[in-house]
Amino acid sequence: MKVLIADRFEDRGIEELAHRGCQVFYEPGLDGDALHDAVARTGCDALVVRSTRVTDEVLGASPNLSLVIRAGSGYDTIDVDAATRRDVRVCNCPGMNSVAVAELTLGLMIALDRRIVDETDDLRQGIWKKKEYGKARGLKGRTLGVVGLGRIGYEVAKRAKAFDMNLIYADVIAHDNAECELGVRRVTLDDVLTQSDFVTLHVPGGSDTKHLIGRKQLAMMKPTAFLLNCSRGGIVDEAALAEALSAGAIAGAALDVYEVEPAATDTRFADPIGNAPHLYGTHHVGASTAQAQTAVAEEAVRIIDHYMKSGELLHCVNPRPPGVAAV
Ligand code: MLT
Repeated sequence: MKVLIADRFEDRGIEELAHRGCQVFYEPGLDGDALHDAVARTGCDALVVRSTRVTDEVLGASPNLSLVIRAGSGYDTIDVDAATRRDVRVCNCPGMNSVAVAELTLGLMIALDRRIVDETDDLRQGIWKKKEYGKARGLKGRTLGVVGLGRIGYEVAKRAKAFDMNLIYADVIAHDNAECELGVRRVTLDDVLTQSDFVTLHVPGGSDTKHLIGRKQLAMMKPTAFLLNCSRGGIVDEAALAEALSAGAIAGAALDVYEVEPAATDTRFADPIGNAPHLYGTHHVGASTAQAQTAVAEEAVRIIDHYMKSGELLHCVNPRPPGVAAV
């Protein structure tokens, strides 16, 4: 099987694929026309991507392409409808980076409460403000509202429980096991917004969740509350968030994801939200720990291996693919 890997991928994963007889083309950083050309040139059967967008044109570039693997959990960067029309299966690697994203979320919560970034900025400028920075409210006893209690939301709630936080969540489905295990209580989204000291978003991106948090929702939050988004950029209306932060309608926010993110890993990024007051931002690195990337690479190899041996697909996200058993 010819496998084109178009994004950064663990060396070990590449070796494992070669060991299983795959012809691996490792060309990280491909995008747009370059990706199209590489798919056509290699005539690949499988394509492995991370942040790279996979369009209808890319899917049509190799007559052999039957499998696209998203080396991560979200797959909103892949045109799944076009893939389904073209009889190309799309699989993701769910759960492999949940802990990494949860760890970043907790880190950002503490950073917001303790204003760690502002303190560091001042320290670098030779400024000492113990009185000003000694006003944190602390996490213990505060209410954390988790929007989306899937794999990542669960890991966030589990860690927040260790901080003795009061946990509530909003989700389209109930998570009875998590409710029993963590004491997290299901409420409406409006209740999460009005009652929480921290609101953290862990829902998939896409049209269903676009601007789930906009002007109206931000206005419902407490003026002392913080908003965190380590899921997908489009879920928060950035213009509305910038307004809310400037007006002091909420105390602060932390984002790891943005409405429009650069395709390149190292480039200029001029999103105006970066200059909003009381906004801490990271560079869509929630999933980017060594532990998570190793787990994702192992899962991608497992999907390809299983497919080669049995024709069955693990974590297939197309509506049931024609002619191929889903497991
Ligand atoms: C995910 O969807 O799992 C992450 O956004 C992956 C990534 O950062 O590439």
